[in-house]
Amino acid sequence: MIAKPKGTYDLLDLEAKLYNYIEDLAHKYMVNYNYEYIRTPIFEASELFHRTVGESSDIVTKETYDFKDRGERNITLRPECTAGVVRSVIENKLYGNRNDALKYYYLGTMYRYERPQAGRFRELTQLGVEVFNSFDPLIDAEVISLGYNFIKELGIENFCVKLNSLGDKETRTTYREVLKKYFEPHLEELCPDCQNRYQTNPLRILDCKVDKDLSIFKNVPKISDYLSLESKDYFQKLKEYLTLLDVDYELDPNLVRGLDYYDYDVWEYTTPDGIAIGGGGRYNNLVKELGGPELPAVGFALGVDRLIIELKKLLEGKTINKEIDCYIMSINEEEKRFALTIAQDLRLNNVICEINSTNLSLKSQFKLADNYHAKFLIILNSEELNKGLITVKDNATKEEIKLDEKDLVDYIISNI
Ligand code: HAM
Repeated sequence: MIAKPKGTYDLLDLEAKLYNYIEDLAHKYMVNYNYEYIRTPIFEASELFHRTVGESSDIVTKETYDFKDRGERNITLRPECTAGVVRSVIENKLYGNRNDALKYYYLGTMYRYERPQAGRFRELTQLGVEVFNSFDPLIDAEVISLGYNFIKELGIENFCVKLNSLGDKETRTTYREVLKKYFEPHLEELCPDCQNRYQTNPLRILDCKVDKDLSIFKNVPKISDYLSLESKDYFQKLKEYLTLLDVDYELDPNLVRGLDYYDYDVWEYTTPDGIAIGGGGRYNNLVKELGGPELPAVGFALGVDRLIIELKKLLEGKTINKEIDCYIMSINEEEKRFALTIAQDLRLNNVICEINSTNLSLKSQFKLADNYHAKFLIILNSEELNKGLITVKDNATKEEIKLDEKDLVDYIISNI
């Protein structure tokens, strides 16, 4: 037997249903917010991720699936989708002469060579949004609340938004120096990764999972004390808008996020046990850095696998019944042919139905119809069919009626 690769899983039964539920809701939900669907390749030139996600991020240093294709090109399976969407916006000049916000959403698989554990996979699915061409806290509030409301709409209530501001470039330059000064006398106490981060990106020391309990972390200077005036104003407005929209947020001065492209606000949707079910932020410089025009942007991605895990917890102990509208019963060839055509007629009229395709006895078909929780049984019988009649049984009341064959579809449609 060949087993699935480490860090992947098969979407089966309930998980598959929950995935469909999330996907269906996403497509409906995004329409209300006027976001357009975008689909970019699962693999891209490796350089794209080195220049966007960042050389100092864990994702690029340790977690990408890189390979050379047969044409000797360096290719990477996307670890996230922001980079691909930005590339597409630039390559297709989607910004054109537009004076409105460009709003996109995506849903797809990403690949990260992480150490698999609960809720952490090597093949993961993200649902994300990216908005370009607006630099107004109003749009950040729209984006943050979109993710917040979507999670709630799914039925997950127990989470909050952790929010921080990394300020503009000026803020981060000042703060980086402050942090370096602070950590310098304690370098030896930090883990090897953080000793590296000290050189490449000291801000990332703040969200180290290994060092977070060290006593030196208790008094780390807060970035909020170093925000430039403009960054402070922007963040203040954003917080007011979020309050206006009833978004339950919590300030987290140590939230820096693991990707290098952020500035201004960053946030995560977090469960009480500290699991990030999504995260995002503003990234005003990325489009320009990748060769595009000056185009401010903001976005987030939700971890669909983690949403499924949360939904499964909510459904624990509850049974979800498969429900169909009709089960069509047949035994001999004539009845089978009739079942096949009548099933097609019903299905084309949006009636969910099933036929006997495994030569079951009548008794087993009755049992199967119950397992499917069929609302109606359509019981075909050659003798009746010759007279143009069909028996329909209401599976809840057990009442049976005989219908003229040509009235069947209308009867079912008006009674389900
Ligand atoms: P991220 O925080 O790396 O951000 O990922 C977003 C979400 O994807 C996480 O909060 C988590 O729920 C899920 N996720 C990440 N890695 C895994 C994994 N190995 N297994 C399962 N789920 C995972 C981004 O990817 C940014 N592109 C978000 C963004 C969009 N920022 C601006 N625009």
